[in-house]
Amino acid sequence: MLFFSRALGLLTCCTMFLPALEMTIAAQPSHPVPPTLFGIFFEDINHGADGGLYAELVQNRSFEHPDPWWAWTPIGTPAPLIAEGTPVDPANPHYLRLAVTDPAQPMGAVNAGWDGIVLDPGATYRCRIHARHDGGAGTLRVRLLDEAGKVLAESSLSVGATWQRQEVILTSTGRTDHGRLEVLATARGTTDVDVVSLFPTATWKDRPNGLRRDLTQALADLHPGFLRFPGGCIVEGQNMANAYRWKDTIGDVATRRQNKNRWTDSFNIKEPQYQQTYGLGFFEYFELCEDLGAEPLPIINCGMSCQFEKGGHVAANALDPYIQDALDLVEFARGPATSTWGARRAAMGHPAPFRLNFLGVGNEQWGPEYLERYRPFHAALKARYPDLQLVMATGPLVGDGKWKAIMDGIRGGTSTDIIDEHFYRHPDWFLAEANRYDTYDRRGPKIFAGEYAAHLDRTSSLRVALAEAAMMTGFLRNADHVVMASYAPLFAKRGHTQWTPDLIYFDNRRVCLTPSYHVQALFGAHRPDAVLPLTLADNAIAAGTPAPKGVHQRIFAAAGLDARQRQAVVFAVNPRDQAEPTTITLAAGSLPAGTIGRTVLGGIPDQALNTLEAPAVVQPVTDTLSHGGGPLRLNLPPHSLTVLRVPVGP
Ligand code: AHR
Repeated sequence: MLFFSRALGLLTCCTMFLPALEMTIAAQPSHPVPPTLFGIFFEDINHGADGGLYAELVQNRSFEHPDPWWAWTPIGTPAPLIAEGTPVDPANPHYLRLAVTDPAQPMGAVNAGWDGIVLDPGATYRCRIHARHDGGAGTLRVRLLDEAGKVLAESSLSVGATWQRQEVILTSTGRTDHGRLEVLATARGTTDVDVVSLFPTATWKDRPNGLRRDLTQALADLHPGFLRFPGGCIVEGQNMANAYRWKDTIGDVATRRQNKNRWTDSFNIKEPQYQQTYGLGFFEYFELCEDLGAEPLPIINCGMSCQFEKGGHVAANALDPYIQDALDLVEFARGPATSTWGARRAAMGHPAPFRLNFLGVGNEQWGPEYLERYRPFHAALKARYPDLQLVMATGPLVGDGKWKAIMDGIRGGTSTDIIDEHFYRHPDWFLAEANRYDTYDRRGPKIFAGEYAAHLDRTSSLRVALAEAAMMTGFLRNADHVVMASYAPLFAKRGHTQWTPDLIYFDNRRVCLTPSYHVQALFGAHRPDAVLPLTLADNAIAAGTPAPKGVHQRIFAAAGLDARQRQAVVFAVNPRDQAEPTTITLAAGSLPAGTIGRTVLGGIPDQALNTLEAPAVVQPVTDTLSHGGGPLRLNLPPHSLTVLRVPVGP
């Protein structure tokens, strides 16, 4: 921060001879800003869900990984077995069989969690285990251990003759980052064990099948208008066999059919054991949306697997089960508790309907094969739910041939409400294209900028964050047509990151919010109710002055009205390495005297990185300006996003 202030002072004096930018903010709003404008894209990539947001501490709790012993170490001689004769549920066929002949020689297994189980002194953990004993009188001893084998908590569970879920709360007496959960059968006879689960009791809203509090809080702090889930290519799968089917993800967790994660072997990390337990399933996603005040935007598989993987599609004349899944999903969310799928929701503890106003059909699909499959979904969904806003993909890269072919398809008669545009591009592209929606053809469907991130050396620097901020001023100015936007991907776990850059990095204990995160959070927290058009005089970059390729303007800005606070909210991005002197006036007349709120996210563009070890290198800094009335003069610091809250009077 010290360096930043010095740089600001130095550069301000060097730019004294620049003409001040003249920003004039209109008196009347041009159009409302939809509450959905800034939202979240969620996908289980980089261990975003299992091992991440989903707070389960046991890895491979149901012995359903390709290697059923993954994360487990057997205890006992002879070694315990993985059995599959009469499981808890056919969707979850494997379980641990512990055949004890001598109680002095207990048999069991120990789970190492996700790179270790994080435990804290005094903290409590909910351990749940499904078990049965062939004599109807078994005992399981459960212990939390540290890396040296020291016992930090211990309890025991009685086991009856049939599969039953037992629960115990364990209190840790110590701290470790590499803890383990040990389960031992101590009674003579055969004990079967399955769905061995351990959660901190302190989950988000204390839910037993809950989410990590710190990561969920980071999502809440984005003030998201919507949550898109469950992805991402994960919706598509590598082939149809591991495509995402939402019905696999609801009901008792013991009955959810585990699936291969589509990101097991992509890009820089190969993780053959990366699975989706679906413990964080569609019910939990809807619940999370409700908690966050965000509109749910589920994306359903449209009978196509990931086109990059060439895994094949469902024949266009065999889509009925997929279309039925989509219809049933709407009933699951919206239907009364007396309807078939509404009853399933009610049985999970939510008799009242969830909100559901948006539905994506297919993830990042393209080509005639997509248009052909999209149309029957659209027809069936609109026939039953005419108000449901449907989202259609336009392929992976806005403006390319795949995108153009989809746009041609729409012009040719394929109907949709919203199109999903993706852009993972160089920051200079973001700056050069930040005005792309200013002149966008309004006659077509509305825009969902569904996946975007500025890519430069795959880092999460301030430079890329500011390029994204510049683009977001364009989303805001054009909020009559751009109705949703989300950065992607969201989460990345250290040591398990297939894709960079990401918005939030984490490990088992720590969270690192990137500069891009802070940009998203500022736009989310300060999202105005309506757009106030603004004009910028003298915004052209002077000839011969250094500028990013294709960029001709000094700053990028948008303004809106916070109707309740009677404040104009101004977002201004200065992406260059000189301060920009700016004068702000109101078209309606003089800016009233008062206190102006100012938040600045700035620093050194390429070196300014947040890490798990140093998470606060780039942080927004808030202060107030006491304004005496009339034009407001201020410097926009080099490489910064400035958010102003300017009182506009009654
Ligand atoms: O965000 C990562 C991936 O990028 C998404 O899964 C996919 O939709 C896109 O290709």
